[in-house]
Amino acid sequence: MPVARSVLELIGETPMVEVSQLSPNPNVRFVVKLEGRNPAGSVKDRVALSLVEQAESDGILEPGRPGQVLLEPTSGNTGIGLALVARMKGYHLKVVLPANVSVERRQLLEVWGAEIIESPGEEGSNGAITMALRLAQEHPDWHMLYQYGNPANPAGHYRTTGPEIWRDCPEVTHLIAGLGTSGTLLGVGRYLKEQNPKIEVWAVEPPAGERVDGLRSLDDGYVPPIFEQLGGAQLLDRKTVVRPRESIEVTRRLLTEAGLFVGISTGAVAAGAIRCAKQIPDGVSAVIVIISADDGWKYLSSGTWTDDIDVVTKRAENTIYF
Ligand SMILES: Cc1ncc(COP(=O)(O)O)c(C=O)c1O
Repeated sequence: MPVARSVLELIGETPMVEVSQLSPNPNVRFVVKLEGRNPAGSVKDRVALSLVEQAESDGILEPGRPGQVLLEPTSGNTGIGLALVARMKGYHLKVVLPANVSVERRQLLEVWGAEIIESPGEEGSNGAITMALRLAQEHPDWHMLYQYGNPANPAGHYRTTGPEIWRDCPEVTHLIAGLGTSGTLLGVGRYLKEQNPKIEVWAVEPPAGERVDGLRSLDDGYVPPIFEQLGGAQLLDRKTVVRPRESIEVTRRLLTEAGLFVGISTGAVAAGAIRCAKQIPDGVSAVIVIISADDGWKYLSSGTWTDDIDVVTKRAENTIYF
């Protein structure tokens, strides 16, 4: 591997690993793509770079010009990815996030140099989005990248994540990922279906009113504009609903059975993969690619790997870890 000229060149090219020991069906292989290996720790590094580079090529941002402000509502990983990209390119980043986020997340944003603007905790990420949209109207000189409505989000996955999966695991039959902004599913799903239309794309979401960090239910009152604009409903073959407790259980299994220390949304996605594998008829073989959005570090204070499962599930109702 050649020496990178900048940390931004280290975004992408993440490894994939077999975790078929979690598959309930002997004919179905599980392969995880480890997006936690990106430099700021999540799949969102790709999106952050894509959003900023698109604004630069549109002439909205200009690297090196002083006083340029970026604004983004984020319940976590995108803020950290953007904070890395903004720091390297010399932009000032303001992040709107709910008041009840975990201490790790706040600290990480501060470490990277982002400015935090709090939105009401009880309104969750929808409240952060509303506040950021209002701030963007009040300050037309601040540039809101808006991952929920910006096609550069799925485009980053279409250009990088999708081709990497196809190159490294061309035997893929199913893609399964969490639904947050829907950027991963739209970008990777479209790329893979263009290579092989038989590949199925499955989304994992929590039930309406329950929370798995990083994911959202489309029935909770907000459908990301990119999902509607880019035909998300037509692209997805299935949606599967996974509850927080099950997400935590499978997050633990990923560690104990496969040695993977990954975030709680990966547990949710792997729980969806287990469901998918059970539905594949006897004698049919399949390879399910599971997107792991991030690693476990930021969720340590949730007690996911250490505390009683009932306590962890209850705690996750009140604190947004990521
Ligand atoms: C931890 C985590 N998992 C999954 C997702 C979902 O990814 P996407 O926004 O591409 O739908 C996110 C998005 O923020 C996330 O932070």
